[in-house]
Amino acid sequence: MEPTAAPIDALRDILGTEHVLTDADRTASYTTDWTGRFVGSTPAVVRPSTTEEVAAVVRLCRETGTAIVPQGGNTGLVGGSVPLAGEVVLSTQRLVGVGDIDPDAGQLTAGAGASLAEVQRVAADAGWRYGVDLAARETATIGGTIATDAGGLRVLRFGSTRRQVLGIEAVLGTGEVISRLGGLVKDNTGYDLAGLLCGSEGTLGIVCRARLALVPPAGTTVTALVGFRSMDDAVRAVGHLRRSVPGLEAAEVVLAAGVRLVSEVTGTAPLFAADTPVQVVAEAVGPPDPTASLGDALDRLDGVLEIAVATDAVRAERLWHVRESHTEAIARIGVPHKYDVTLAASRVADFCAAVPELVADVVDGTSTWLFGHLADGNIHVNVTGVPDGGGPAVDRAVLEAVLVRGGSISAEHGIGIAKRDWLGRDRAAGDLAAMRAVKDALDPAGICNPQALLGQA
Ligand code: FAD
Ligand code: MLT
Ligand code: ZN
Repeated sequence: MEPTAAPIDALRDILGTEHVLTDADRTASYTTDWTGRFVGSTPAVVRPSTTEEVAAVVRLCRETGTAIVPQGGNTGLVGGSVPLAGEVVLSTQRLVGVGDIDPDAGQLTAGAGASLAEVQRVAADAGWRYGVDLAARETATIGGTIATDAGGLRVLRFGSTRRQVLGIEAVLGTGEVISRLGGLVKDNTGYDLAGLLCGSEGTLGIVCRARLALVPPAGTTVTALVGFRSMDDAVRAVGHLRRSVPGLEAAEVVLAAGVRLVSEVTGTAPLFAADTPVQVVAEAVGPPDPTASLGDALDRLDGVLEIAVATDAVRAERLWHVRESHTEAIARIGVPHKYDVTLAASRVADFCAAVPELVADVVDGTSTWLFGHLADGNIHVNVTGVPDGGGPAVDRAVLEAVLVRGGSISAEHGIGIAKRDWLGRDRAAGDLAAMRAVKDALDPAGICNPQALLGQA
């Protein structure tokens, strides 16, 4: 269908004038992504507050051939949340509310626009915990984390977002509402539509609410920062910790250069000698009390240069600071080109050794920063100082290095716009045809985030 001008008046009829923003100064913050790398424009930002309003907006957009980009907290890092081709932005800011807590089952229902931190707080108040955590917790939304199948800091123990989602209420690109929020743990009644929407990046429809499974609250928590001689030593150490520490929840890696940058940018002193090459934040959570098992395991590791241990929240936060501040610190020195790749454990060290040089070889003046979720084989490669037009060469250097090692070009942030041209190198033709068939069935007019993931081809 040929796109027409956005039906602003009809959108106002559905949502009221105050929830259809058209002034450039009011839409500006919705048109640039978190990194500042992706900047678009929009005729309107719409802010529905109920599933029915979302459905009315989607039906109107389907009839008029108006493309929509769903947007939650706009913390996505692959350009998928901003209108790069003049789409209407559907903001989930008003689809909020966290409730229907079942304290026996450990479940709650959250609006798509509720922040991750709010869900974490409500879960804690109910004596439970939400298993997803990431540094953007105050801004990232439940809808966004579902649409990207966000990973984060505790995938090692609880899995990514998909594992926490028991049911979804959503408006598909057809305008049809699907709603299954009963929270049944076992439910084999055909296709897993909720699972399909996890990681769909807004290309199949709009997630409006979700029923989420909670995990038991944290008991005694022990956090360690461990400095290693090499990435090889760190990878082996994480394997050992996973085998011998039952409550291990996190094993995150940073390198000396990133530690120095965080220290400079945030004005905090590094905890270890500046040249400690590889540092791992490991955290184990009881019950049972993990102090002895983590202590024993740390004693048996090879290649350890330094260890700091925290058993209280204030000291633990100091250990986490160096890891959690990487994204902010890197963004302060320039617009980063971000890659979030996964490799088998046996290829992580070799990849990390190779990639900075591969990047430096193709574009002068860049800096390559490596950090990430070591237990998941998920390395974040951030490249700063990429000149205009240098992006494709950097993409090639990083992503070829991933593919030749049998890795995936996206571990957690998704494909968005940033990696769209590379999807066909990672997924087989049959996979892509099946994805396209799903897209065409659930979004026949191609109005849901048409630039992202599969693109318009
Ligand atoms: P947005 O950025 O608004 O949108 C992301 C994508 O989801 C877009 O394609 C958008 O169209 C779609 N979308 C949003 N809401 C909906 C909806 N309701 N229905 C359908 N589609 C929707 N990510 C990780 O996985 N792990 C991390 O550890 C992590 N750490 C981060 C740390 C920082 C400091 C920052 C800035 C980002 C981090 N991220 C991380 C990336 C980001 O926070 C996640 O991708 C998050 O899931 C995005 O949520 P959001 O609400 O901001 O979504
Ligand atoms: C992280 O693990 O810190 C994030 O995924 C964000 C990033 O890649 O910068
Ligand atoms: Zn990450």
